Amino acid sequence: MIDYKDKIASLMLENIEGLTLEEIKDMIEIPVDSKMGDYAFPCFKLAKLLKKAPPMIAQGIAENLKGYDLFEKVENVNAYVNLFLSRKVFMKDLMNTVADEKDIYGSSDIGQNRKVIVEFSSPNIAKPFHIGHIRSTVIGNSIYKIYDFLGYDTVRINHLGDYGTQFGKMIVAYRKWGNETDVINEPIKTLLSYYVKFHEEAEKDPSLEDEARAVFTRLENGEKEETRLWKWFRDESLKEFNRVYDMLGIEFDSYAGESFYSDKMGRIVDMLNEKKLLKESEGAKIVDLEEYNLSPALIMKKDGSTLYITRDIAAAVYRKEHYNFYKNLYIVASQQNLHFQQWFKIIDLLGMDWAKDCVHIPFGLVSLDEGTMSTRHGRVVFLEDVLTRAVEQTKDIIKEKNVNTDNLEITAKQVGIGAVIFQELSNNRIKDYVFSWEKILNFEGETGPYVQYTHARAASILRNAGSSGDEALKNVQGAVMDYVTVDSGYELAKLIYRFPQVVVDAAEKYEPSVITRHIVDIAQSFNRFYHDEHILVDNEEEKKAKLILTYAAKQTIKNGLQLLGMEAPERM
Ligand code: ARG
Repeated sequence: MIDYKDKIASLMLENIEGLTLEEIKDMIEIPVDSKMGDYAFPCFKLAKLLKKAPPMIAQGIAENLKGYDLFEKVENVNAYVNLFLSRKVFMKDLMNTVADEKDIYGSSDIGQNRKVIVEFSSPNIAKPFHIGHIRSTVIGNSIYKIYDFLGYDTVRINHLGDYGTQFGKMIVAYRKWGNETDVINEPIKTLLSYYVKFHEEAEKDPSLEDEARAVFTRLENGEKEETRLWKWFRDESLKEFNRVYDMLGIEFDSYAGESFYSDKMGRIVDMLNEKKLLKESEGAKIVDLEEYNLSPALIMKKDGSTLYITRDIAAAVYRKEHYNFYKNLYIVASQQNLHFQQWFKIIDLLGMDWAKDCVHIPFGLVSLDEGTMSTRHGRVVFLEDVLTRAVEQTKDIIKEKNVNTDNLEITAKQVGIGAVIFQELSNNRIKDYVFSWEKILNFEGETGPYVQYTHARAASILRNAGSSGDEALKNVQGAVMDYVTVDSGYELAKLIYRFPQVVVDAAEKYEPSVITRHIVDIAQSFNRFYHDEHILVDNEEEKKAKLILTYAAKQTIKNGLQLLGMEAPERM
């Protein structure tokens, strides 16, 4: 595909002595108002270099560019050169590219196979997988897909919270009040109830706490019975998590959670000792970070047990040694900002020069219409229930609308779950947001169903033309694209053209919402085109050109949805 900035810069190069191609390229702008051209070049900065007044420079450049058939029109307005591309050349080149690349349109190899670790989801064993977890899960999955699409070698890690003193408590509670069948039937709810009961009982009888600590030490020492129970709790919880991952279509390459590092912590403590970073504080070992304006990091408790932060340090060291990553990304709530600042600083102090390649990608809070979530007050919304309800409600809406789908179940699942994902990825990730059923399932607003519906509409137009998408594309070479260079068609094509750059921007900012917003723009633009222009006209040549543009819009929306982790149904 033609890189227009590059092309324009190279045409200008001979006119402007003293600037490199890259410098010229950087100066080319895209005017906000397309009446000022598709591209514009301001000449102010050149006055000194060329010792001429900017309007004069603009005039000279414009004169020179007028001869090329890349442009429909070249104007100089004061100090600006305004460039209008030949819509015909533009359309043809773009449609050829989309037709060639199809499902990989927008991808690239800028990643050069460099290793990127994307750690996301990471729920805690025996704790509910609630709506709050959806953010890490969905944002992380999309970031993984984006990096994968850009040619990075990605590894998806689920850093399960499967270790810590709470497992001592759970084992004690299970032995005292538990029952195997309940755990098997409803692992998380049951295990959670043991945990709650433990705390109630421990208020009355504090010796339970000692008992739990002793049991956890036995677990840390690898005692058979404790290990068996712990492993069983973990397996049963994972089964439940996997049900949710299946619904979302999400997979992981590794479930190495906190417990995986239980035998790798001694080494970290030794390293910290060697660098004289550890300090005694009331029997515990800490790293003092006052100099860096951070509160002290507790590395080891009085009883020798390690902590969440110790395991994060061990995990990062392990990942560097095992994967030799280029980037190590953590999609974790902004409540943990301090935690990440602390341990990033610690590995930096340990002299690990790759500390800079570890990136915390924070996100804001989800709350419910009724107020913030609280496990203690029972105000938890289980993610699985949310997804199931989204699918059920979608089914009702589809039935009501009387749309004919191949398969109601499948479509309702694609749309219902897609709606939840899309809402999640609609705003900048750092923003807090309120979960709202009304907003989420709307087929009209800037929602998942709206974008999917637009995709299905394009698919249906192609079907009605008796032409599968592929057939429309066979005609690209010979097609007379002049038929779609009207404003609405051209604006749509420009959005399609920008898609590959949008994917790169999303990766650089770790921000899937950049893609979400762009495909909403494409969907709206396609709907305008569809509204203004009758597509299935009698004139065969005109119809061909319109079908090709329809196909390109459909394909780009589909690729965008795929990067968000959503399906693109052909019918709805
Ligand atoms: N299990 C933690 C929680 O649910 C999240 C883990 C985040 N990842 C990490 N490497 N610390 O809060």
